[in-house]
Amino acid sequence: MDLYDVMRTTAAVREFTDDPLPDSVLHTILDNARFAPSGGNRQGTRVVIVRDAATRARLVEITEPGARRYHAQKRVGETPWSALVPSRVTDEEVAVTPVPAAVTEPIRKAAVVLVMCVDLSAVAALDKDLDRVGVVAGASVYPFVWNVLLAARNEGFGGTITTMAVAQEPALKELLGIPDQYAVAAVVPLGKPVKQLTRLGRAEVAELTHLEHWEGGPLQELRRA
Ligand SMILES: Cc1cc2nc3c(=O)[nH]c(=O)nc-3n(C[C@H](O)[C@H](O)[C@H](O)COP(=O)(O)O)c2cc1C
Repeated sequence: MDLYDVMRTTAAVREFTDDPLPDSVLHTILDNARFAPSGGNRQGTRVVIVRDAATRARLVEITEPGARRYHAQKRVGETPWSALVPSRVTDEEVAVTPVPAAVTEPIRKAAVVLVMCVDLSAVAALDKDLDRVGVVAGASVYPFVWNVLLAARNEGFGGTITTMAVAQEPALKELLGIPDQYAVAAVVPLGKPVKQLTRLGRAEVAELTHLEHWEGGPLQELRRA
C-alpha cells in the first residue's frame, strides 16, 4: 500500500474474523516495526506474543477493573483516568458499571495479542522531575507500537492500542513474568478486520497548529510549489 494510504486508514480494529495471523506474517510486521526510533536508540521495547486461551482469559480479568472505571467516568461526562481532574465517580458506581464487549472480546478473539513493554532502565525521561504526569518515556515505545499497527494494515491485518490492563500492571507482569524494570505500555490485539474503515475522524491541520507561538494562528492549506 501507499504510505499515505496506510497512515490515513489505520483505524482502531476491534472486530476480527477467524482468520489466523501466522507467525511468518507477524515476523514480517515486527521486522518492519523494529525500525521505530527510541531515545538514544536504546531500543528498550520488548513484545510478549500471546495466543494461549487461558492467558487471554486472565488478560481479560486484568483489563476489567481499569475499563470499568473508564466507562463509569465516561458515562457521567468525565475525561476517564484524567491526570489533571479528580473523578467524582464513587467506587460503588464503578462497581456496577458494565464493561463493554468491545473491550474484552478483542482480547479473546484476535488472532494474537501483543503485550508491549519498555525497559525503564533504558529510557531518558526528561520530564521526570516536573510536577505533572510523565509523557516523554512513552515516546521510546509508542512509535514502535504504532509501527506495528501500520505494518499490520499494510499486510491486511489490524488491531488497537489498548491501555486498560495497565491499571493492573503488577498482575499483568506476574501473569507474563515481565521483569521489574519493564513497564507495560500497551496490549494490542491483532487480527483480520471484519470491516476496514477508510474515513477516520481527525482534526484538520489548521485545528492543531500554532505558527511560531501559541497565539500565532494555524497553518493553512497552501498549494505546493
Ligand atoms: C494511548 C491510547 C490508548 C487507547 N486505549 C484503548 C483501549 O484501552 N481500548 C480501546 O478499545 N481502544 C483504545 N484506544 C484506541 C482509540 O480509542 C482509537 O485510536 C481512537 O478512538 C480512534 O479510533 P479510529 O482510528 O477508529 O478513528 C487507545 C488509543 C490510544 C492512542
